[in-house]
Amino acid sequence: MAGHIGTLVIFGAGGDLTQRLLLPGLGQLLDSSRGYDLKLVGVGFDPMTDRGWRQRVEGSFAAGGAKGALSASVAADAEYLQADVTKPDELRRILEVVSGTPAFYFALPPRVTIAACAALGEVELPKGTVLGLEKPFGTDLRSAQALNRQLIKLVPEKQIHRVDHFLGKSTVLNLLGLRFANRIFEQVWGAEHIERVDVTFDETLALEGRAGYYDKAGALVDMIQSHLLLVMALVAMEPPSSLDADDLRGSMAQVLRATHVWKGDAAAASRRARYGAGTIDGRKLPAYDREQGVDPALGTETLAEVTVGIENWRWAGVPFRLRSGKALATKRQEILITMKDVPHRPYGFRGNPGPARLRIGLSPDTIELDLNINGEGNPFVLDRVNLDVDFAEGELGPYGEVLHGLLADDATLSVRADAVEECWRIVGPVLAAWRKNTVPLDTYRAGSAGPASWR
Ligand code: BG6
Repeated sequence: MAGHIGTLVIFGAGGDLTQRLLLPGLGQLLDSSRGYDLKLVGVGFDPMTDRGWRQRVEGSFAAGGAKGALSASVAADAEYLQADVTKPDELRRILEVVSGTPAFYFALPPRVTIAACAALGEVELPKGTVLGLEKPFGTDLRSAQALNRQLIKLVPEKQIHRVDHFLGKSTVLNLLGLRFANRIFEQVWGAEHIERVDVTFDETLALEGRAGYYDKAGALVDMIQSHLLLVMALVAMEPPSSLDADDLRGSMAQVLRATHVWKGDAAAASRRARYGAGTIDGRKLPAYDREQGVDPALGTETLAEVTVGIENWRWAGVPFRLRSGKALATKRQEILITMKDVPHRPYGFRGNPGPARLRIGLSPDTIELDLNINGEGNPFVLDRVNLDVDFAEGELGPYGEVLHGLLADDATLSVRADAVEECWRIVGPVLAAWRKNTVPLDTYRAGSAGPASWR
């Protein structure tokens, strides 16, 4: 790829996100056909030697499968700076070690990111500077709007990369090919033929030591406000004229603007629950509210479900149910599109295995089509068949993919300011209803399929 960025500066270099996700993604990218040489600078609040940082970078590159010469040389030349990025003078010191155009990646908690952006306002940034920001982007609509206003004073919108790694997942990207490079689906893609859409991201993973972040976010903000609404936008948007950043993100923003909680009733359209003690794959888990660092008084949910409707010509009347939870029995991560039943089934057929369904699996990456055909034994008895295909993995994982966008000056896979604000607007009434306790906080056993009353 063209070398747009000369130096990648990671704020929060000592953190878990940097080690587990960002650096492995960067290593993959460097060694891929899209890699190019750059300088890597880690910045953290705690002291670390250059040597310690390089070892960390090498370890994470190796964990992501990087073995090439380019990743090795970037790791060998990496530098570490101890600094408080909320202080303008310290930011100026960081700028002194930058060569070429810098990209600053904020792998920091939202509160620190907001303070660091305010401090960046006091500093003269090199032309072309790129900013990368992790979710959650703000903590509600107002704080997201305030952060957007602050960011746009620093650099133009196309240089702001609000990162959502779901947009870098290969199946999510495959949605574009499936919908817009085939004639068969787009013709039936709407309320006339589709009964409902379910976007589900159930995990068997539990809190995994992330109380500091998760206990304040909960499943609704952690997964639905960000990832699942964006996936829904790709499923439901109008065909863009091109895949460039303006066209694609314009289509996504347009459909999000038309999205509201189902029938305007946030309490009726949402459910929430929290896991109790249980066992998953032989692993014993304590109840969520007994996990270390959790404040039971916050009443944080670990399973959230919200039904939304898209109020436009194509989708009016079709429920989109978004659901995500932790510590569940089965890892079910998919977009399920249920078609309407046929208007008339010729008399003489027996049985009805249900309407046709298209399932796009997000992990593992698959596409399945459930169809009804004439049964093998008796051709007048309808039978179900399942056509399925597994996708080859993309060359890059999700973080490699989104980092590529950031380093190559291509904002296509970054979340635009208006989309982030729309996502907060959509979930706002649900958050308010939950705060007022108009929706009960149900419980489920860790390792179960969710609360018994939901089934
Ligand atoms: C993250 C959430 O953004 O996405 C996690 O904070 C979640 O809670 C994760 O587990 C899921 O994504 P992936 O790609 O790791 O399955």
